[in-house]
Amino acid sequence: MAIKVRPLSNVIGAEIQGIDPAGDIDDDTIAEIRQAWLDHNVLLFRNVSWTPAQHVAFTRRFGPLHIMPRLANEAPVTLPDHPEVFIVSNLVREGKPVGVRRAGWGWHSDGEDKLVPNMGSMLYAVIVPPKGGDTAFSNMYAAYDALPDRLRDAIEGRRARFSRAELHPVNYPHLPPLTEQEKRDRPDVWHPLVRIHSETGRKSLYVGRWTVEIEGFGKDEGKALIRELSEFAVQPQFVYRHRWRVGDVVLWDNRCSQHCAIPYDDEKHERHMLRTTLEGDIPAYGTVRSEVAEAA
Ligand code: OGA
Ligand code: MN
Repeated sequence: MAIKVRPLSNVIGAEIQGIDPAGDIDDDTIAEIRQAWLDHNVLLFRNVSWTPAQHVAFTRRFGPLHIMPRLANEAPVTLPDHPEVFIVSNLVREGKPVGVRRAGWGWHSDGEDKLVPNMGSMLYAVIVPPKGGDTAFSNMYAAYDALPDRLRDAIEGRRARFSRAELHPVNYPHLPPLTEQEKRDRPDVWHPLVRIHSETGRKSLYVGRWTVEIEGFGKDEGKALIRELSEFAVQPQFVYRHRWRVGDVVLWDNRCSQHCAIPYDDEKHERHMLRTTLEGDIPAYGTVRSEVAEAA
């Protein structure tokens, strides 16, 4: 099957046309799609109508799936019959939240706060608000390539600490605090700030909203550098902003992109999205590899 690859911007993203992700797809076509994914970082499929089982089956063609744990007692996080499907939703039914509200409001890549971050994520739009609720994607290869020498020299081969425990109250102020058990389950990790993609061999900038400290830098100096890198990474020239339509499926590569849900009026409008998540590998820059941080 010959697919058509139509770029969504000149920096990141492409739409795949000519296949139905819910249908039968041969291995050669999957290989073509994977190549397009590696080339374009973010893929869009339009007018998809599928069941959670089909969503899971299509995602599995790209690798083993990750099951998202519950977080801060927010219930439920995944579909009862399909633990591989994570629910991003502001719907309330019978007084209970249907999924995780305000997930991803802030630039990040999925699982950046874990030793093994997620390789990819595939988000399916079920209900979209009439206004707002877009998702922005930034190309971290392009951000790395454009780094001024001063910044590149400061971070290449160096690691940063990512901390769910420290930043949960900042990034999820509307959720209950993490329990002591959750903090033990989500220890801080050190990741290389420049990582080498395990399939393409290309270097990308690896920072996000859970980054708190940089090796060899004092607290304040490190925070200032994190802020500078974070702002640098998501400048308009690296970004594509996706306006969702019902039936859109977007597959992104967390190894070389960041994304951000653009806040919308979630008191007024419903937005309901289903996500599958691909298991990843331990980030590395040559011999510099990610590691779990010693407990403070
Ligand atoms: C995610 C996420 C953004 C959005 O599902 O990982 O960050 O726009 N979602 O819903
Ligand atoms: Mn996310």
